[in-house]
Amino acid sequence: MTDRHPALLPGGLRATARRLVTGGRGVLAADESVTTMSKRLADAGVPASAEHRRAYRELLVTADGLADGVNGVILCEETLRQRFADGRTFPAGITGLGMLPGIKVDTGTAPLAGAPDETVTTGLDGLPERAAEFVALGARFAKWRAVFRIAGDLPSTWAVRANAHALARYAADCQRAGLVPIVEPEVLAEGAHPLDRTATVTARVLAAVTTALTDAGVDPAATVLKPNMVTAGADTDVAEPAAVARATLDVLRATVPDDLAGVAFLSGGWPPVTAAANLAAIRELPAPWPVTFSFGRALVTPALHAWRGDPGAVPAAQAALLAEVRRNAAPSPEAA
Ligand code: 13P
Repeated sequence: MTDRHPALLPGGLRATARRLVTGGRGVLAADESVTTMSKRLADAGVPASAEHRRAYRELLVTADGLADGVNGVILCEETLRQRFADGRTFPAGITGLGMLPGIKVDTGTAPLAGAPDETVTTGLDGLPERAAEFVALGARFAKWRAVFRIAGDLPSTWAVRANAHALARYAADCQRAGLVPIVEPEVLAEGAHPLDRTATVTARVLAAVTTALTDAGVDPAATVLKPNMVTAGADTDVAEPAAVARATLDVLRATVPDDLAGVAFLSGGWPPVTAAANLAAIRELPAPWPVTFSFGRALVTPALHAWRGDPGAVPAAQAALLAEVRRNAAPSPEAA
């Protein structure tokens, strides 16, 4: 182990994990797959091309002062290999701006045999080699997202186990390669279920993930958990932030270890104001880990619509992003 770069030693990984969640700042998820990003660009009236995807990501990460509210940026593989207009690679540019570059390493979802209507997240084959290459390209952390849908009796025990197992194998491979894993088990908000049902399902999922991470020997202090907040289904009346916060922390405290580096919530497609209000309410309650955001849509949607592919609209798009980041960052002097 002595030939390894200090950042790749276990203590280095813990420091990187803490850096991702410190100071009330969060993580910007700008890692939509090529397919998803192309669709979102097309929906905003921008022709989907590698250059438009690159230009859009560059405008996001170069927004002046982004590092005041964002510790790390998650990229997809296409962006990791692209360059800023000034020639720097994205990882070099993001690092130069004072943030940590990260990489989404899962390859999406596939139908799960034995669990009709459910999926398992893919991407484990060759992951140790890919992770080593991503480290060489400058990535410092990684992300893997598993999805669980509430419908009837779903999610099934098999889908929960299979996805928890894959998340743990991913996390172990990443820590071994020198990447901090962001572990993202997302219980989707879609549906008309009450908040209690989301609480029960989220607790089942997180308990299974914790068991699998422990079995795999994953170091919690070098891991960031990225869960959903415990809300009612998106097709119901929106729950009060205080109720969301209580349920979310009750579930997390009962199911995940106290020595996780941090918890960084996803926004789950909720409108930016709703996601921010729920996060603020969660932060008001005591928790054993730093609590912050790792939002995608709730941070970038207003920016994409302000930009619409127009180079002249870059300042307005960056201002829109910074406004959403400020809404969610909670700087505290003692946690700089
Ligand atoms: P949302 O905040 O848009 O849910 O996305 C977060 C994310 O990284 C999904 O994998």
